[in-house]
Amino acid sequence: MSGDPAAEVRAALRVAGLEWPAPIEFMAEVGSTSDVLRALAEADSPEWTVVLAGRQTAGRGRHGRRWASPPGHLYMSVLLRPGPSVRLSLIPLAAGVAVKEALTGNGVDARLKWPNDVLVGGRKVAGVLGEGVASEPGVQSLVLGVGVNVADDGSLPDELRELATTLDAERRAETPLAGLAAAVLVRLRAWYSVLAVAPGDVLAAWRQSALPWWGRMVEVDAGVERIAGLARGVDERGALLLELADGAVVPVLAGEARELRPR
Ligand code: BTN
Repeated sequence: MSGDPAAEVRAALRVAGLEWPAPIEFMAEVGSTSDVLRALAEADSPEWTVVLAGRQTAGRGRHGRRWASPPGHLYMSVLLRPGPSVRLSLIPLAAGVAVKEALTGNGVDARLKWPNDVLVGGRKVAGVLGEGVASEPGVQSLVLGVGVNVADDGSLPDELRELATTLDAERRAETPLAGLAAAVLVRLRAWYSVLAVAPGDVLAAWRQSALPWWGRMVEVDAGVERIAGLARGVDERGALLLELADGAVVPVLAGEARELRPR
């Protein structure tokens, strides 16, 4: 992003028919956009406040992993304050669908790997991290972080070469970051409003966008234990349902999943 990136994102949103209802901040370099946004959330920033960065020095991924964050890629965090009836655990799934659709809009067919890794050809192109924020009693607040690998310039660390890809490499063209940020935000607004009234529709959209694991052997590294079983679907919380060898079906709420015998 160049010039005034926040204004560019706002303008791209306007072109898409969306007058963004909250501040959009851009910082050339931050530790983590989600930490900056958390501080803004605690200072009562409104829902839909967005923080974008040119690079992060302490970007983080799920399970406390590092998220490599050199310049040229998208780093964005969005503040959500859902009503009490909204299940927080479904928001990252809705965000995964939003990112997948934004990539589709850029001509790239991505798939979601439970819960919300975004893959192209089996390699990760984007990730979503939802983190709760302490709020007043009765208020739920969530900082949603989205990272998309964009530039095809060799800037991602060597150790990710086999595991990750970039949007530009997949579409063989340069993607303007402001337009991509706006596309993600547009789809996120859409799915977030569906979530409030029809969470089942979000789960159905997630399933349609997901790797077709159903009926196949999947293993989840859930921290303290490793669970393997036939993937049967996701429940109303977004937990992965695995059928164990004894026929019992167990919900797995979080973890790192992989197909055991990919086809
Ligand atoms: C994952 O592990 O797949 C989630 C990655 C989330 C990365 C994004 S980049 C913007 C925001 N700031 C962070 O430090 N992390 C998230």
